[in-house]
Amino acid sequence: MSQIEKLAPPRHIAIIMDGNGRWAKKRGLPRTAGHKAGAEAFRRTANYCRTLGVEYLTVYAFSTENWRRSEEEVGGIMKLLAAYLKEALRDMQKNHVRFRFFGDLSRLSPDLQKLCLEAQEKSSEFDEVQVNFCLNYGGRDEIVRAVRRYAADVLAGKCDADALTEDMFSLYLDSAGVPDPELVIRPSGELRTSNFLPWQTVYSEFVYMNVLWPDFGPEDLDSAIEEYHRRNRRFGGV
Ligand code: IPE
Ligand code: IPE
Ligand code: MG
Repeated sequence: MSQIEKLAPPRHIAIIMDGNGRWAKKRGLPRTAGHKAGAEAFRRTANYCRTLGVEYLTVYAFSTENWRRSEEEVGGIMKLLAAYLKEALRDMQKNHVRFRFFGDLSRLSPDLQKLCLEAQEKSSEFDEVQVNFCLNYGGRDEIVRAVRRYAADVLAGKCDADALTEDMFSLYLDSAGVPDPELVIRPSGELRTSNFLPWQTVYSEFVYMNVLWPDFGPEDLDSAIEEYHRRNRRFGGV
């Protein structure tokens, strides 16, 4: 058993799955081939997280800004997502992954929305690992949608605006009920969050890695977890 398996993994790991395009470019392949390889990396990583006993894995799959890409690329990503969800529904009894979706799903195609809902409903009883898929997700958009729902509750007399606390507000977010991630990993070498989980990551440890997402393997997750264990988390204390 390696050293890392003896260290408790964080309960919640979040990953910005970045670098698919550069991976494809390096090989002279279309960007969509990079996304396909990225989907494989996701399967690998989710399985490994389950083996390690990680409770929550949150993955950034498509941002509110990613619509700026070509129709061809966006269409290719949506097709891969639909294929993955169909496969997940088929293998549900074997994999026992519980699915949740963060983001504004209303902009996705009706077919994809249906697959998301079905995956969420049919997996709700599994208790091994929960995968939170961020689809058409933007952190600012999530907060604005939460504020809208909260304002509607205030107007309906269901709650008192003066009594709002951070814990209460977090229940209006897509991540309601999910503990904050202890560790956020961004492969691809970019040093930014790109609108990922701004509310939930105020005290997360960020590990930026030079590997491109399609090449990401268990050994990379191990090294991110090792790095996490080297950090001194103070939460504002001493
Ligand atoms: C991440 O890889 C996948 C999505 C954002 C959907 P990219 O497609 O951003 O890959 P790079 O950053 O261009 O290499
Ligand atoms: C962040 O990656 C979004 C996802 C991985 C889904 P991007 O490639 O879109 O981020 P930027 O444009 O480099 O900031
Ligand atoms: Mg990118």
